[in-house]
Amino acid sequence: MNLKQDSEPQHIPVMVSEVLSYLNICPDGIYFDGTIGLGGHTKHILSRLNQKGKLIGIDRDGEALEICRTNLQNFPSSILLLQTSFETISDILNQQKIPAVNGILLDLGLSSFQLDSNNRGFSFAKSGPLDMRFDSSYSKTVSDLIQDSSTEELALIIRDFGEERHAKRIAKTIKKGETIRTVEDLVEVIRRTTPPAHRNRTFARVFQAFRIAVNQELDRLKTFLNNFIDCLTVGGRIVIISYHSLEDRLVKHAFKNLSLNNRLSIHTKKPLTPSEHECFVNRRSKSAKLRSGERIS
Ligand SMILES: C[S@@+](CC[C@H](N)C(=O)[O-])C[C@H]1O[C@@H](n2cnc3c(N)ncnc32)[C@H](O)[C@@H]1O
Repeated sequence: MNLKQDSEPQHIPVMVSEVLSYLNICPDGIYFDGTIGLGGHTKHILSRLNQKGKLIGIDRDGEALEICRTNLQNFPSSILLLQTSFETISDILNQQKIPAVNGILLDLGLSSFQLDSNNRGFSFAKSGPLDMRFDSSYSKTVSDLIQDSSTEELALIIRDFGEERHAKRIAKTIKKGETIRTVEDLVEVIRRTTPPAHRNRTFARVFQAFRIAVNQELDRLKTFLNNFIDCLTVGGRIVIISYHSLEDRLVKHAFKNLSLNNRLSIHTKKPLTPSEHECFVNRRSKSAKLRSGERIS
């Protein structure tokens, strides 16, 4: 495997003590980490499980899962790692003949490992093909998405998923010019179309928009939110960390509906955010919002 990293792949897990406190781990319980990444949160969950405990770890990214497998090799609990998407939770539990789990964690978005990877196109600061797929076996890259979409469709992606006010102008310039194949091509279009002030934020918003679109992040989250409650035991806990207002809104509304139907007790009236200290030591935690609940029926 060639990870093409400049240094050891890494990601600092966000709000670990809050995650553990809200999951309230039972040592012999079964836990589902739907976005296991490099296993940062999972390591802490596993350190609270005994030999009867079990953990199912899911990620769409095969490279991340390989590193995760190595990172978790010394834990005695039973660990099952699968490359798939978290909205398939019911099918996974059916296949494993597990009626329900004691806890679910989703830590949405992308990891520092992915952002810092060369040749995957997640970062506007790295050169390479404009890919951004979490799962590289999936056929469509961001470059393909741009080619297959109309100016109007591109403008909506950039506006809705990036909250970028120059969306229309950027979309028009993208479609007017040469085929966009690389990170540099997209960066150049944005540079030509937008004012220089705070330009790095504009790059970040547009790149985020295309990542969300190509990975169908919001649709997958919606499907998961419609299904997860039956996958939890009564008394089982869910924790979701989101990094984008649209994701947080989906989680908030889904929890509210489940609470109105007496299925979920919401443990976070308002979303929790990282402490000042955590934001200082891990800049990438800044936009995190954590919501949690417990199945009650
Ligand atoms: C913020 S990282 C998780 C980091 C992890 N909690 C840790 O501490 O190492 C988000 C991960 O979710 C994965 N991911 C995103 N959408 C997914 C989906 N629909 N299903 C499964 N994994 C997904 C990404 O590939 C990425 O590895």
